[in-house]
Amino acid sequence: MAMTVPTFNAVQASLWLTLCGRALDNRLSRPILGDNMADEVVRKVDFDYTKLHIPTSSAIYIAHRAKKLDEIAQRFIARHPDAVGLDLGAGLDSRALRITPPPTVDWYDVDFPEVVGTRPRMLPHDANPHPIGADLIEPTWLDTVPTDRPAVIVADGLIAFLSEDEMRTMVCRIIEHFPSGEIAFNGYSKFAVWAQKRFAGAESIKAVTRFPGFDDPRYPERWHPKLKLVKEILCTREPEVARFPVGLRLMNRLTAPSTAVSRRGNVVLHYAF
Ligand SMILES: C[S@@+](CC[C@H](N)C(=O)[O-])C[C@H]1O[C@@H](n2cnc3c(N)ncnc32)[C@H](O)[C@@H]1O
Repeated sequence: MAMTVPTFNAVQASLWLTLCGRALDNRLSRPILGDNMADEVVRKVDFDYTKLHIPTSSAIYIAHRAKKLDEIAQRFIARHPDAVGLDLGAGLDSRALRITPPPTVDWYDVDFPEVVGTRPRMLPHDANPHPIGADLIEPTWLDTVPTDRPAVIVADGLIAFLSEDEMRTMVCRIIEHFPSGEIAFNGYSKFAVWAQKRFAGAESIKAVTRFPGFDDPRYPERWHPKLKLVKEILCTREPEVARFPVGLRLMNRLTAPSTAVSRRGNVVLHYAF
């Protein structure tokens, strides 16, 4: 018998979009991420993903950006085996299972208590090294996280739900907490924010999307003097595009030469501090 689907508010329920996106990617003949666990969780709760109207292209983009964020975390951990890792707005993602940090790394998954509270029943024990149930805009959630180790912080699908002021305050707190580190998140261009409010596949989050978006990848550098852009990853130019279905691949190939047009789509922003 399927598990009961947990009840979440609209912001928390956005986790189904990304989880189902990765599960649908996993069901493709040539998955981009191959997130078996996402697929397993969606099957376990028998979640009716059809009501989310996620087109294959969106599922692929969701999986692709997750892969780029995984790679950033993996590379950082390879250079800093004593690192602390944080997944902000982790939802029901099992990133720790995908990136398999060594035991010397402490990995924290942060989300609202209602979401973090459901993780142990949805995900295996090793997908939940250090859960933190908190509202990320509150100042105290970092209190239990070590302050003396380099940190890699990823946020996949989170920033849409924060105001710019909340995002800036949270980023500044993180930078002040650790001696050094890297932070990466999927970008929201002004066009992406505009499109998200009109796109059927994002119907469920229209009303709770708050981030205004920005186009210049250096824009967040003004949030804190230590924050420096490492790379703007325009996904149209990434090697995984070669594995996209033909129509989507062609569209990405045509878009790739234009930075301005690529920025309107799937982008991962990577910073150091
Ligand atoms: C689109 S989902 C992405 C979930 C996950 N990162 C993934 O890729 O599947 C956004 C997540 O951010 C969380 N979130 C949004 N605002 C938050 C806040 N202020 N504090 C904690 N979590 C938040 C939501 O609960 C949700 O799980």
